[in-house]
Amino acid sequence: MFFSLVASLSTLALVSPGHSYPSNAKHHPSASSALPACGPVVQSCQCPEGNFYSSVTTYGFYAASAKDVASITASSFSDLSYIGLNVTNTTGQGFEIGSSRTFSLDWDAASEPISVKEVLTTYNNYPENGGFNMTWEMGNLPFYYTRPSGEEATVGGFWSYEELRQVGDYSFFLWSTWSCFGDVFDFNGFHELVFHRIAQILKEQGKSDGSIVGLTTTG
Ligand SMILES: *[C@@H]1O[C@H](CO)[C@@H](O)[C@H](O)[C@H]1NC(C)=O
Ligand SMILES: *[C@@H]1O[C@H](CO)[C@@H](O)[C@H](O)[C@H]1NC(C)=O
Ligand SMILES: *[C@@H]1O[C@H](CO)[C@@H](O)[C@H](O)[C@H]1NC(C)=O
Repeated sequence: MFFSLVASLSTLALVSPGHSYPSNAKHHPSASSALPACGPVVQSCQCPEGNFYSSVTTYGFYAASAKDVASITASSFSDLSYIGLNVTNTTGQGFEIGSSRTFSLDWDAASEPISVKEVLTTYNNYPENGGFNMTWEMGNLPFYYTRPSGEEATVGGFWSYEELRQVGDYSFFLWSTWSCFGDVFDFNGFHELVFHRIAQILKEQGKSDGSIVGLTTTG
């Protein structure tokens, strides 16, 4: 297990954008204009005005095979029924690049539920163990919403990386999201809800005891 975790953390260092916060812009506002706009590449970047950067990475191990976990999370990009999200529109089949899923979410920063479109940007199978990695991003940008106060605000976007792979008798699952939002969005809570939902389904299917070893959320 220890060796596995070290291997996993080196991956995490690659994908966790937590260290890319553009702190070099703090004391030199003029330098900040040289930073690229935040986007799918994890790097020092600048959010649109009125937005702030945040980054959350969640990972843990299920006592189940990657195939078993993938059978829950990965029937197709558009299928989010396992977390109970009401997907209102989809495009594309399976994991075709450019596939999209649109769903609405309650967000206390907005006066009404927001409609989020997510677009698949990369997808790779790990044929040797049934795992995969993929990236996707918010597709309906620029996004405007109204705060309960009546004030207008924007979302600059979010980008996600997800990875599932077999590590011994366990499956390592990692989900990283970095974003430019005008108000706090509870990505930590959303990630953890999905991780626990997968554990619960594995237990219901008799494929694991329902635990998540080393569940960690950073950011
Ligand atoms: C999902 O949303 C659509 C459109 O708002 C609605 O017609 C449908 O009843 C909803 N389904 C569920 C299960 O909530
Ligand atoms: C679903 O998305 C497609 C592509 O963006 C669009 O053409 C279509 O009108 C949408 N359907 C609904 C019901 O919103
Ligand atoms: C995703 O998987 C592909 C194929 O195995 C690999 O080349 C790529 O480096 C992986 N991406 C990351 C961020 O690990």
